[in-house]
Amino acid sequence: MTTTLPSPSAAPLVLGIESSCDETGVAIVRGQELLSNAVASSVEEHARFGGVIPEIASRAHLEAMVPMIEKACDDAGVGLGELDAIAVTSGPGLAGALLVGVAAAKSLSLALDLPLYGINHLVAHVGVDVLEHGELPEPMCALLVSGGHSNLLLVRDISSDVISLGQTVDDAAGEAYDKVARLLGLPYPGGPHIDAIAKEGNPQAIAFPRGLTSGRDMQNHRYDFSFSGLKTAVARWVEACSAAGREVPVADVAASFQDAVVDVLTRKAVLACREHDAKDLLIGGGVAANSRLREYAQRRCDEAGIRLRVPRPGLCTDNGAMVAALGSQLIMRGRAPSALDLATDSSMPLEVVQA
Ligand code: KG4
Ligand code: ZN
Repeated sequence: MTTTLPSPSAAPLVLGIESSCDETGVAIVRGQELLSNAVASSVEEHARFGGVIPEIASRAHLEAMVPMIEKACDDAGVGLGELDAIAVTSGPGLAGALLVGVAAAKSLSLALDLPLYGINHLVAHVGVDVLEHGELPEPMCALLVSGGHSNLLLVRDISSDVISLGQTVDDAAGEAYDKVARLLGLPYPGGPHIDAIAKEGNPQAIAFPRGLTSGRDMQNHRYDFSFSGLKTAVARWVEACSAAGREVPVADVAASFQDAVVDVLTRKAVLACREHDAKDLLIGGGVAANSRLREYAQRRCDEAGIRLRVPRPGLCTDNGAMVAALGSQLIMRGRAPSALDLATDSSMPLEVVQA
């Protein structure tokens, strides 16, 4: 197979495939310009289980992959024969789900004789912002918060130098939202429901714990997060309230829980920027849509003289655009393609930008 690299200075036409969780995303990017972004989600099929069921997600990817590839090409007005490269999430994520995307990407790469880039899903959550706000400032810090991840990273070079500063030691932030929503009788996924109902509640009503923020924890887990103690505290509080025969003040509980989450996320993210001389903070992942998180982040960034970058919601959640965008940046920075025997890696380390 010839793997002719487009010239590093050109704006390559890249098709990106994402299938690490429950979204089948296929998008086409030219350089830093988004041409199409087709996404099919199996979220509704998981709703009755209150979380993503890997086998259901894999099956849904199989069914949606070809239609999404066709839609991405149609929406962009681009034929497969015009593409310069294929990019695909090769990790981290659900093993079976990743396999579907990587198999599709390899097939396209072989059939069309195009270079293949297996890329890191988490780094792609950062790389996507070039599509909205242009060139990434480096170094920068990024806070990635979704149903599957809560990571704090330092990006010194998006193509080759990304460091993990911290992550959750238990539940992901979105997972905590989903579990607390369930406790409060709200539908799945719970984040948007808590966000909405919290607007009617008092965030100071209940003093829920801020995980890993005590003196000792700030030494050992400076940039790590923990949400499972908070989730348990909410459960105990709700139980005690019901046991006493009182009606649960859902809006106050939601607002107080949310305040605890976003307080810790933004405090640690701004601290990471300060301590690593980063003047820019990016927030990505589904939880980045949270209104209180955005408020807190903006206020704390303004106070610290840090510029805040949050891609629009459609680019924050899992999609093919993030994959195509990172693939395109790798090509523009002269990175060689991945091997065709590229393997999936469900726990791909953050430091591995490209497999
Ligand atoms: O990135 P995403 O679509 O999928 C992955 O988890 O990879 O993120 C989904 C997560 C869910 O946990 C959902 O509850 C949460 O993002 N979420 C929110 C909001 N919108 C979505 N959490 C808090 N506030 C929101 N407005
Ligand atoms: Zn994600």
